[in-house]
Amino acid sequence: MKLYVARSAEEWNRLTAQIVREVIEAKPDAVLGLATGNTPIGMYKELVRMYKAGEIDFSRVRTFNLDEYLGIDPGHPASFISFMKQHLFDHVNIDPDRMHIPKANPDDPEAEAAAYRELLRTYGPCDLQVLGIGTNGHIGFNEPGTSFDSVTSVVELHESTRKANAPAFGGDPANVPARAITVGISEIMTAKKILLLATGAGKADIMKAALEGEVTEQVPASVLQRHDDVVVVCDEAAASRLELPRSER
Ligand code: PGA
Repeated sequence: MKLYVARSAEEWNRLTAQIVREVIEAKPDAVLGLATGNTPIGMYKELVRMYKAGEIDFSRVRTFNLDEYLGIDPGHPASFISFMKQHLFDHVNIDPDRMHIPKANPDDPEAEAAAYRELLRTYGPCDLQVLGIGTNGHIGFNEPGTSFDSVTSVVELHESTRKANAPAFGGDPANVPARAITVGISEIMTAKKILLLATGAGKADIMKAALEGEVTEQVPASVLQRHDDVVVVCDEAAASRLELPRSER
């Protein structure tokens, strides 16, 4: 596991986007696993800047988003497809036929999860999986207690997650969908490389538990200790409790 600690938001954005760019440079038809949330917004901003400057070409890239809420209109501003359009898809040359994200309002959620699992099996594994981390240790929407053997499925969100995500739904956790489709932990672990992102003091305790604590299904992100190519990019606040050696680049 490699840990980089950025000294500023600009450096964090540059570093994270650079790691994505290097994967695409090495393999122009790379399969990228993408994450939503507040954390990766600056990374996407820098990727869009790189694209506009002619420094990166997404034309042959394939993307798989990690998760999507269930039971909301895909056009809802808080859906993950809306997020991806706003922050990346509408601004770069990813082929729409190669952008994959579970449907937010499928007629049959179980069938949608099964179809997404099959798509991942067909085109995966991801060359790079980008991951955020929940304050409860979730990766994707794999909440504490999820089996490390889990595959893409329909899941229930924990109250802590609905509370954390409430700002995008007018502030009331009751407005946050109760269910989602998420890529499973076993599939996340098949990625060739994992880029784990964390910023802010609110992530310091969970980063300590996930990266330096016991590997346990109660802390889903702790499974990453078993992956042999994880790059962690934090700011000082999120890294403040970590004792792992820091890398420079
Ligand atoms: P955040 O979400 O980036 O908004 O903190 C991370 C997550 O819940 O995975």
